[in-house]
Amino acid sequence: MSDESSQEIRQRRKDSTKWNNYPEDTVPLWVADMDLFVPASVMSELSEAVNRSDLGYPSKRLYDRYLNAINTWTYERFGYLYEQEQLEPIGDIVQAIYWAVSTLPGDAVIFASPAYPPFFRSVKESNKTIVTTEMQLIDGVYRMNMDDLKESARQSPGSILLLCNPHNPTGRVLEEEELQQITDIAMDYDLWIISDEIHRDIVFDGHRHIPTASISPEVARRTISLLSASKTFNLAGLHAAALHIPSGKPRQLMQSIPKGLLSGPSSLGLLAGAVAFENEKTWLSRTLEYLDSNRRLLAAFAKEYELNATIPQGTYMSWIDFSHKLSLDNLSAYQFLLNYAKLALSNGEDFLPLKGMSYARLNLATSHQVLEESLDRLKPFLAN
Ligand SMILES: Cc1ncc(COP(=O)(O)O)c(C=O)c1O
Repeated sequence: MSDESSQEIRQRRKDSTKWNNYPEDTVPLWVADMDLFVPASVMSELSEAVNRSDLGYPSKRLYDRYLNAINTWTYERFGYLYEQEQLEPIGDIVQAIYWAVSTLPGDAVIFASPAYPPFFRSVKESNKTIVTTEMQLIDGVYRMNMDDLKESARQSPGSILLLCNPHNPTGRVLEEEELQQITDIAMDYDLWIISDEIHRDIVFDGHRHIPTASISPEVARRTISLLSASKTFNLAGLHAAALHIPSGKPRQLMQSIPKGLLSGPSSLGLLAGAVAFENEKTWLSRTLEYLDSNRRLLAAFAKEYELNATIPQGTYMSWIDFSHKLSLDNLSAYQFLLNYAKLALSNGEDFLPLKGMSYARLNLATSHQVLEESLDRLKPFLAN
């Protein structure tokens, strides 16, 4: 993995939102994509497709290859196989969230907070009710509040539970016992589960991702699983994802909307995802090592400066509480760091409305150099 400077990355990523949204003197560690190169086989297959001008509508063979590659990967990595004919291609996961939130039964959608901002938007824009259950920070680890979740489920039986595992922004990876508890609650109160597992491959040593649908056949029958190569292999701009919709009521309901409202994956996205899942286990291992060294760098920094930052078990995000460190007055931590440290993190208020002002999310998926530079920029504001 090359260790590029911010100037090098800025030049290379010249059409990315990450490197264009803020002035050049600001280091961007916000939106969730990586500043790392995609796998070599993906670069060469995409270049070949472009050189052949093979950019028309994708063939059924390419769709099948993509879905098969996702499922084979799932089996080899997580020991679980989705029903192949119940996997559906889609342009992106956010679209799948909106689709499922708006069509599954129930007026309430329960999810843990802080949460990925489109979780809030999808529920609001579907005219449903947001029910958040705030995660609890226990010994540096964010955990679901099971009593609160149970109470929310009790008050909204038959509604929707929107899970994100591994969790953005806290970096939490649910243990089997917790996932069992959560799905028990869901089954007890007849909840439908939407399980966003987009970050499932970015999991560090000592932790293990468990597909929600693998918990039991009963859980699988009530779970819509959202899957993608986009975080794993850094392909978000290519727009390709998949969802597993079990047969029976979920499939019937999901099919009730006009299919023409949904956009399918791009041909290059299908190709890139298929090639990556078929060939790039080693690339992923090396990428996880690289991200892990950034994680360690952050951990050492947080310890030295007594910064309340999560060291992610999964995802390449750290959720940071700056309340004890910065004199914020009326500024959010995000605005403060943007103004004074020239550092663009993601605004905590978007993940934790009303209470998130002192929080920000930091994206660790950059070069060592850029991360070091960013932490250096933080130092003057954290010294006691
Ligand atoms: C939890 C989660 N779901 C979905 C997405 C976006 O997926 P897509 O680009 O396929 O819509 C992200 C991106 O950050 C995410 O963190």
